Amino acid sequence: MQTLLVIQASLFGHNGRSSQLAAEYVDGWRKAHPNGRVIIRDLAADPVPQLTAERFQAFIAPERTPEQQAIADYSAMLIDELTSADEIVLAVPMYNFNIPTGLQNWFDHVARAGITFRYTENGPEGLVKGKRVRVFIARGGQYGETHSQTAYLRQILSFMGMSDIVFVHAEGLNINETVREQALTKARRVIEELVEQRAVA
Ligand SMILES: Cc1cc2nc3c(=O)[nH]c(=O)nc-3n(C[C@H](O)[C@H](O)[C@H](O)COP(=O)(O)O)c2cc1C
Repeated sequence: MQTLLVIQASLFGHNGRSSQLAAEYVDGWRKAHPNGRVIIRDLAADPVPQLTAERFQAFIAPERTPEQQAIADYSAMLIDELTSADEIVLAVPMYNFNIPTGLQNWFDHVARAGITFRYTENGPEGLVKGKRVRVFIARGGQYGETHSQTAYLRQILSFMGMSDIVFVHAEGLNINETVREQALTKARRVIEELVEQRAVA
């Protein structure tokens, strides 16, 4: 059975444009995998706490207090969700030229030395391998597919070992209705192609 993990980062939950584009892909994925399992982690409804020194200490403590164990268990649960999925969908708005802090908090809880990556004599090695990752980015303005937001996502995902990454950008959504509709039509065309690839894969 295939498992798809959806990480949704819009402040507006399912109503966010990034969430809606991702949902269109997920609908197609469900048709291609009628017995598949979809797990939705909505970071607006169920926020991951900001990483503090106290939380980081809990990650690395050789022996943990019950409070530290609860923090480490929570991080382990998020990591299990990631590693047990065959495919990951990220629905990502651009907020203040970056990813939402909620998504940053999620990365801060799943990027763990010795668990999702490790340092070797030849440099860092990602340990989350063999996943397909599909990223749906919604932006009010137009900054292009090489913007630092996209570059950051590629870097953190590949640092953890994920290399099969496809980005779908919907840009200019807040410029005017014409630009918005053109952007959404273009994004939907790419989504249809991705869904067709899943149907034959
Ligand atoms: C707090 C906030 C900050 C934003 N900052 C930017 C920005 O820096 N650049 C941009 O292109 N759009 C920006 N926008 C517009 C969003 O990218 C756009 O509304 C997009 O649809 C948000 O995705 P969502 O609907 O999935 O939440 C911002 C929107 C909000 C609410």
